Amino acid sequence: MTLKQKDLLSIQELAASEIATILEAADSFKEVSGRDIKKVPALRGKTIVNLFYEPSTRTRTSFELAAKRLSADVVNISSTSSSATKGESLLDTARNIEAMKSDILIVRHPMAGAPALLAKRLSSSVINAGDGAHEHPTQALLDLYTIKEKKGRIDGLTVVIAGDILHSRVARSNLFGLVAMGARVRLVGPGTMLPPMMGGWLAATAGQVELFTDFDRALEGADVIMMLRLQLERQAGSFFPSVKEYARLYSLTARRAARAKPDVLIMHPGPINRGVEIAPEVADGLSSVILEQVTNGVAIRMAVLYLLSGGGNA
Ligand code: CP
Repeated sequence: MTLKQKDLLSIQELAASEIATILEAADSFKEVSGRDIKKVPALRGKTIVNLFYEPSTRTRTSFELAAKRLSADVVNISSTSSSATKGESLLDTARNIEAMKSDILIVRHPMAGAPALLAKRLSSSVINAGDGAHEHPTQALLDLYTIKEKKGRIDGLTVVIAGDILHSRVARSNLFGLVAMGARVRLVGPGTMLPPMMGGWLAATAGQVELFTDFDRALEGADVIMMLRLQLERQAGSFFPSVKEYARLYSLTARRAARAKPDVLIMHPGPINRGVEIAPEVADGLSSVILEQVTNGVAIRMAVLYLLSGGGNA
């Protein structure tokens, strides 16, 4: 089992068969994290570097755990404690890391396209760990894995993605992944936060994606509800009157969640703003799989690191 590409930059560039390959590989790696000794020798001798220009709890930690559970050597670099603070460019930083013979560079950056730029210039593999409002491919893969694990399928499910769609790389990656895997997607949020036509891509999905501004309507009969954090750090203008007003219209409360199917899955990529986009009792309720998403993130990242390294005996 391998992936033919050198890098993982977006879900949009993956075929459904490639997504299925990653989800299948994650199944065997999930079992490793349940063992007393959580380690396999698959990537022994490989060097993996986490290069983060934005804060992260889940993605950075789970990439580090994934690499260590595969026996790779891992180095973490944060822009705030690197020579980026002295004016070194992203490309110079990455080329210096590669000169130390790293094999895979995992990059989070506020500029959309930054990992793609590095992928063109480096011979080592580059993984996008979130680039601006563009994509967050491993988040979508762990979300798809969680849906498939819980529901047994993705094809034919109705998935609501709610909130700040416009600024969310998680929404974009999930949208591409869910459509590729045959789900019906409802995007819901204030009209100012719904995406424009995405270069005609939405129209080309032939009805597989619907846009809503009425949250209650969007939730009717949903199989999965994916809530999004308000990306205040990416909002240059004023997209809604106040956070209180936003929460009144778009917070997922228990009353609202009851409009979905009784066995609905409630998801959130984290970090959560409790009481803004989701009520605490819903985030912690029986339908919530938010922490299971985090658990599955390690397995997905193990699968991605393994497959990009050429596969082989795990
Ligand atoms: N979901 C996610 O990307 O979380 P972090 O910002 O903590 O990595």
